[in-house]
Amino acid sequence: MHPAKGFFDEWAGFYDANYEDQEIGDVEFYVNLAQEVDGPVLEVGCGTGRIYLDLLRAGVDAYGIDISEEMLAILEQKADEADLTPSVRQSDMTDFVPTRKYELIIVPFRTFLHNVTIADQKAALRQLREALVPDGRLVLNFFVPSFDVICETYGDPKTQSVTHRGDEYVVTDVSRIVDVCNICRISHEATTTIGNW
Ligand SMILES: C[S@@+](CC[C@H](N)C(=O)[O-])C[C@H]1O[C@@H](n2cnc3c(N)ncnc32)[C@H](O)[C@@H]1O
Repeated sequence: MHPAKGFFDEWAGFYDANYEDQEIGDVEFYVNLAQEVDGPVLEVGCGTGRIYLDLLRAGVDAYGIDISEEMLAILEQKADEADLTPSVRQSDMTDFVPTRKYELIIVPFRTFLHNVTIADQKAALRQLREALVPDGRLVLNFFVPSFDVICETYGDPKTQSVTHRGDEYVVTDVSRIVDVCNICRISHEATTTIGNW
C-alpha cells in the first residue's frame, strides 16, 4: 500500500481536530486563484475538504482527488451537512486518469512532498500536465526542510489536546529523520485515557 494512503486512512478522524486551532491562512489564496479562472479547477489531495469545500461555497467548478478514501469520506460527510455537492474521487496523483481538462490545478499544503521518490514526482507531474488545458496553471505548495529548524526540535515531542468524537486525546508530533539525505517525517500519535489510537 502507498505509505501516504495508510497514514491518512488511519489519521483521517483526527485531521480536522489537529488543524482546527492552527492559523494556516491559505484558503483565501486558493479561492481567489480559482475565481480568476474561467473553467474547472482540480484540487489534488483535497483531503477532508479544508480548502475544497470553500471552493464549492465560492461557486467554483471544483473537482478533487485524494489517495485516501477515509479522508474523502469525511469530506463527503461535511459536504452533506453543508448541503454542498462534491465531485471527488479516490485517485493517486501519480497514475490518475483525468476525465476532463482543468484550467487550474492546485496541490496545496505541501501535498506534493508525499511523492518521496523522483520517479513518483515525475509521474505525478506528467499526469498533472496531461490534465491541464494548454496554458493552464499548476500551483504547487512546498516547504524546504531546514536542518537548523529540524535540529532545534528533533526528537522533541510536541503535544496538543484534541477532541475526537467526544473523547479527549493528546496528539504527539515527533520529527524523525528517516533518510538523512532526503526525508524528514513527522509522526503523529494520539493517545487517550481509554487506550491508544
Ligand atoms: C496535508 S493533507 C492536505 C489535505 C488538504 N488539501 C488540506 O489542505 O487540508 C495531504 C493530502 O494528500 C493526500 N495524498 C497524499 N499522497 C497522495 C497521492 N499520491 N495522490 C493523491 N492524494 C495524495 C493525502 O491523503 C491527504 O489527504
